[in-house]
Formats: sequence, C-alpha cells, structure tokens
Amino acid sequence: MEKQVKRIGILTSGGDAPGMNAAVRAVVRSAIGQGIDCIGIRRGWNGLINSDFLHMDASSVSHIINKGGTMLYTARSEEFMTEAGRAKALATCKLLGLDGIVAIGGDGTFRGALALSRQAAEAGHSLQVVGIPATIDNDIGCSHYTIGFDTACNTAIECIDKLRDTMQSHERCSVVEVMGRHAGYLALYVGISVGATAVLIPERETDFDRDIVEKIRRARLSGTTHYMIVVAEGAGSAMEIGKRIHQEIGIDPRVTVLGHIQRGGSPSARDRETASRMGYEAVQALVQGRGNCVIATQDGRIVDLEMEHALQMKKEFDMERYQVLEALTNNKGAGQMF
Ligand code: F6P
Repeated sequence: MEKQVKRIGILTSGGDAPGMNAAVRAVVRSAIGQGIDCIGIRRGWNGLINSDFLHMDASSVSHIINKGGTMLYTARSEEFMTEAGRAKALATCKLLGLDGIVAIGGDGTFRGALALSRQAAEAGHSLQVVGIPATIDNDIGCSHYTIGFDTACNTAIECIDKLRDTMQSHERCSVVEVMGRHAGYLALYVGISVGATAVLIPERETDFDRDIVEKIRRARLSGTTHYMIVVAEGAGSAMEIGKRIHQEIGIDPRVTVLGHIQRGGSPSARDRETASRMGYEAVQALVQGRGNCVIATQDGRIVDLEMEHALQMKKEFDMERYQVLEALTNNKGAGQMF
C-alpha cells in the first residue's frame, strides 16, 4: 500500500520564469484541499540545506497568480550538487517530516530532485519528488511547453515592436539579442512573430553571408529600408554581429540586448493556466503514488512522466517552425517586408 502523503515541501529553483507563482499557488491550494500540509522552501535547494522555510496556508498564496518572479525566491545551488550538501538537505526533510517535494524549475532542478530522492532511499527514507517545468527557454526535453515561455515571447515582441518604430523612422538596422544560451525557441517564435529579416539560433550553424548579408540584401531589393535581426544569446554576441554587418555592408546597426527584462512581468493567460494545471497534477501524482515524475505537456495535455525517463528525453529541433521562418525571411518578392 502507498504511504499516505501528509506533508510536502515546495520550492522554485534555477532561473525564474513568469508563472512560477501561479504554480506555487496551485500546489499549495490543491494540497491543502486534500488535507496535506505545505512547507515553502525558500531560495531553491539552498533552503533545504539551510533550513530556510515557511509554513504555507491557503491565504499565503493569495494575490500572487498575477505576479512575475517567485515569492519563494530562487537560486542555483552549488552545494546541493554534492552528496554532503544533499545530506544536509535530507536532514531538513527528515526534521520537517516531508513525504514529498514539488520542485519548479528546469532540468537541472529535476536532476537535483532525483539525486535527493535516491540518496533518501539509500538512507531508508522515502521521499517522492515531482518536477514542474518552468523556464523561459522552453528547452525541457520531455515537455512541449514550459511555464514562462509565452510571457517571455510576448515581452520580447513588445520590445521589438517598439524598436521597429524607431528603426523604421531612421531607416536603420537593429540587432536584438534575446535569451537562450543553449536553445533558440524564444528567438524562433519571436523572430516569426515580429517578421524579422533574419534570425540566428544555436541549433543552426550561422553562415554570415547566407543568413544575414543575403537576407538584408533581399529585404533592401524588395523595398525595405530597415532591418530587424534577432539573435539568440547562444548563437553569438549581438554586438559582434552588429560590428560585422557594419564592416561587410556598410550599414551602421543599433544593438539591443533585451536581457533579464524577458524573465519578468505579469504572466500571460497561457502561463497562468498551464501553471495552475501542472500544480494541481503534481499533487495528484503524489497523492496517487506516482511520485518521482515530471509533469509535462504533450500535445496540449498534462501528463506525468517517470523522472529518470523524462530526463533522458530530448526535444526534437522544431523543423516545422524553422521552415516557416526560412520561407518568410527568404522573401524575394517585391514590396515592403515585415
Ligand atoms: O532561465 C534561463 C535563462 O534565462 C537563459 O535564457 C539565460 O541564458 C540564463 O537563464 C541567464 O541566467 P542568469 O540569470 O544566471 O543570468
């Protein structure tokens, strides 16, 4: 028979993402509704190491569904990567009597959760962990969607639309760097949505002449006098790309690095709704004895996947969207681009 879940911990870890608060709220309210006690762990895994926690009741998560950031704070914990660090964290779990932990973050967060659960089992302590994917990069293999991505796209689009107004007036070229150290999803979606002249992503090797110079030329030949180049952080430095454009075709681009502004802001409807469904499902998984899993979206449905298996899953490159992007940035027709 499954052990009854009486008390769980909840934490956010890694880079924050809009909608994390909505997920915290959903976990707390769903758990309390099932008679489960909730402990908020502050500052990611460091909170377990340092006994940094708070008791959460239903009202402790009031008025956060609309807020960006995370009320629990977040961190990337070096100490938790070590066995000694996890042993300290386990001592806190034991002291608090935690049966499970819901960890909201990226795959680094989930790897840490799984290592903790295994170390607990070796010490004869049962600790079920559940991961909820939240990162603006949308780069978690097992889930089609991660909390925060939609809001980050909308934020970047809003900024780039503003940039375009001034680029158009001055007939300039804009090079905009969006986040995504290892993944180009944000750049891809944003590039399609702003009608970029060219988009560079880490998943595709850049040929400067083909991917930038030629696209600017085509845009110019079709009547455009301003150009929007979107670069994912992992595909190169916007500053360097701007300099090279200047050297090679003589136009003088303006460079904008959107940076951490993309991680903030009130979460979109999609992020609030997805976070709420995932938070609810995380508690269901624990209550129904399906711990050590990641809550994921697959074709719009919320599913839970065994954590070790989930961590091995790789996201296929989004060829369909890339083809759309290529088709729209290789426009040879006459008339204005965008
Ligand atoms: O959370 C993901 C992410 O925003 C990446 O896109 C970016 O490269 C990185 O985090 C930035 O991390 P930091 O907050 O440590 O600067």
